[in-house]
Amino acid sequence: MIAINIDCVIDQNMKILLLLGSPHAEGTTAALAKSFTKGAEEAGHEVVSIRCSQKNVHPCIGCNKCKVHGICVWTDDMPSIEAEIRSSDAVVFVTPIYYFGITAQLKTVMDRFYSFDEFLRKKKPLFGLITASADVGIASSEGANQQYRNLLGYMGSESIGMLNALGVTVPKDLDRTDYVEKAYQLGKSIRK
Ligand SMILES: Cc1cc2nc3c(=O)[nH]c(=O)nc-3n(C[C@H](O)[C@H](O)[C@H](O)COP(=O)(O)O)c2cc1C
Repeated sequence: MIAINIDCVIDQNMKILLLLGSPHAEGTTAALAKSFTKGAEEAGHEVVSIRCSQKNVHPCIGCNKCKVHGICVWTDDMPSIEAEIRSSDAVVFVTPIYYFGITAQLKTVMDRFYSFDEFLRKKKPLFGLITASADVGIASSEGANQQYRNLLGYMGSESIGMLNALGVTVPKDLDRTDYVEKAYQLGKSIRK
């Protein structure tokens, strides 16, 4: 079972962006994000969170106009999200598992990386992944984990770590686990 995997330690203050995939403001992953943020802020980092479900982001239609004109055809909230991503040293995806993968809300934002992925592949920001799933087995989380690993490889980026919280349907399920502490430690481990 993959529970926690801290892959690299950074020795300077960073701006960390959390892209939250859940529609629940007070849900399971929100509790993990809060704990991660506490740890990261205690380690001296700045943490900014964006709830993807609260943003108006149109799905990418693969028109490739961004590759020709350098700008996406859609007028929506993505430019402000892009600005946060561009100015962040690390982007952490925090998402419940929906049908064996990340949520559509998060994937919609991720697909829009397309218009600036040359920038991302050059900058190589750090990435992180925190998931929560009702299933106690790791199988439900493997799709998200593999997608995350593939993204790391594509971007040429390093991982700050992965945390799969298993067997947690609602926030109170976290009480009988150490996942909140693990999220805190993951944030805290990114130290100066
Ligand atoms: C539409 C939907 C699909 C889900 N699919 C899965 C799944 O494939 N595997 C799983 O273990 N849990 C699944 N769940 C359960 C959520 O991952 C789980 O309840 C999670 O803790 C919710 O996190 P949140 O409160 O941050 O949204 C699903 C929940 C919903 C609403």
